[in-house]
Amino acid sequence: MAVPSITSLAPLADKLESAKRAAAYRAVDENVNFQHDKVIGIGSGSTVVYVAERLGQYLKDPEYNGLVSQFICIPTGFQSRRLILDNGLKLGSIEENSSIDVDFDGADEIDDQLNLIKGGGACLFQEKLVSTSSKKFIVVADYRKKAPKYLSTNWKSGIPIEIVPSAYVRVADDLKKLGAKHVIVRQGGSAKAGPVVTDNNNFLIDADFGMLENPSQLHDKIKALVGVVETGLFIDNASRAYIGNADGTVEVF
Ligand code: 5RP
Repeated sequence: MAVPSITSLAPLADKLESAKRAAAYRAVDENVNFQHDKVIGIGSGSTVVYVAERLGQYLKDPEYNGLVSQFICIPTGFQSRRLILDNGLKLGSIEENSSIDVDFDGADEIDDQLNLIKGGGACLFQEKLVSTSSKKFIVVADYRKKAPKYLSTNWKSGIPIEIVPSAYVRVADDLKKLGAKHVIVRQGGSAKAGPVVTDNNNFLIDADFGMLENPSQLHDKIKALVGVVETGLFIDNASRAYIGNADGTVEVF
């Protein structure tokens, strides 16, 4: 078969990239039912690049081409639209495909209950829409993303929260009342760029709540604030996580 084997990847110099690639390739190999699946979600970030790459390899394999060429791939943002197209896969929309067979996405942090922090790439709303519309949601990540036990945030890396722009002062105040230690409206690349604007024309707040012992309760409280569109806490949503290790092995849980 033309699809390269995972073991042939071992000599790759960059351990982090090979960890991401190994996790993504194995996740695709073990979770796409080529005979039955029709609609595939493609998330955002640098690990999902290898999910699209793996699907592209199957597409080029004469044994799978007839099946994979029929797959409709649902993106979670501009980057994943490009990944789908660049790998020769068929682009679809969630409006036309509201039930997704399997969704693959990265994560910023994963706890031992498979709760996630997502939104580092500012696409958390579409990522949640796609993952919660999927029969299976498979997380792909490298070894840096696994929390020892609880999810945790700090002043540099908070919970991403998508908010209506006009509500940013109100939401920031309300988050502090809920216990946030630091609240930052995410800014673009340069000092002059101003706030990051999401694909839905909203702003993002990153809120540091320290260690998250009860992320479900915190998610519900944040979600209830006026002006909050969605939070980057993904609770009881992921089916399985594939974590690529520096030694080339992949942990699945
Ligand atoms: C984007 C995300 C990403 O999936 C998350 O940031 C992980 O990215 P990477 O695979 O580059 O580590 O949530 O909003």
